[in-house]
Amino acid sequence: MSKSAPLRPAEIGDFAVPRHVAIIMDGNGRWAAARGLPRGEGHRRGVEALRRTVRAAGDLGIGFLTIFSFSAENWSRPSAEILELMGLLRRFIRRDLADLHRRGVRVRVIGEREDLDPDIRRLLDEAEELTKDNSRLVLVVAFNYGARQEIARAARRMAAQVVAGDLALNAVTADKLAGYLDAPDVPDPDLIIRTSGEQRLSNFLLWQAAYSELVFVPAYWPEFDRTALEDAIIEYRRRERRFGGLVAQTGS
Ligand code: IPE
Ligand code: IPE
Ligand code: MG
Repeated sequence: MSKSAPLRPAEIGDFAVPRHVAIIMDGNGRWAAARGLPRGEGHRRGVEALRRTVRAAGDLGIGFLTIFSFSAENWSRPSAEILELMGLLRRFIRRDLADLHRRGVRVRVIGEREDLDPDIRRLLDEAEELTKDNSRLVLVVAFNYGARQEIARAARRMAAQVVAGDLALNAVTADKLAGYLDAPDVPDPDLIIRTSGEQRLSNFLLWQAAYSELVFVPAYWPEFDRTALEDAIIEYRRRERRFGGLVAQTGS
């Protein structure tokens, strides 16, 4: 297949999909503002886009889907909006967990759980526990997540072992540190998608994104659907990944 040959979404099933797709679900507020609606309506419609996307990811055979749901920096928003976002997470887990479980989705959570309300922590723990033996799709929920904070947590865990004499100082390497991140067994994302036209990572997966392909789509998150996911994968498949070497690998 030549690089410029157009691939249509209908053909996507014929091609390998990335093993791990991560999404910065951005633009809920602007989607709502453009329609004269309150920002909260954008967040609610964002949950519907999330449901569609999880279903599509499972159908396409993607192994890992990471979603950026609430950043460590989002606490700087007005408290009413924070309450709404926390309420949506509660409702999403209560309403959707059984269905996710039935469809073979394993839920994982990354981010700092200490600062969250105890009932939310319990729900996140329950979601992980109930689905721990599923393997069709791993849904990694980045909640109260910041990549710099995650790296600092990993460094702290590793330093504690050095201080205790359980780890030699010269054993501290990049590979070793990766093993102390929040979900060390999850492979690095092959493809990171950000909606809403913004072209930045906003403190998402900074360590794991070292060689990810980035696809920025203009649509606001509530508009995202299976076709948009397929289009992003088609774009990914046109990329040549080199990992610092000279041999190009097309995205797969
Ligand atoms: C993404 O949409 C959801 C979260 C960050 C929680 P935004 O709320 O950031 O929407 P915009 O970017 O203001 O439009
Ligand atoms: C990133 O979006 C966080 C999530 C999608 C959860 P933001 O809307 O918070 O990012 P900035 O502030 O525009 O960089
Ligand atoms: Mg935003």
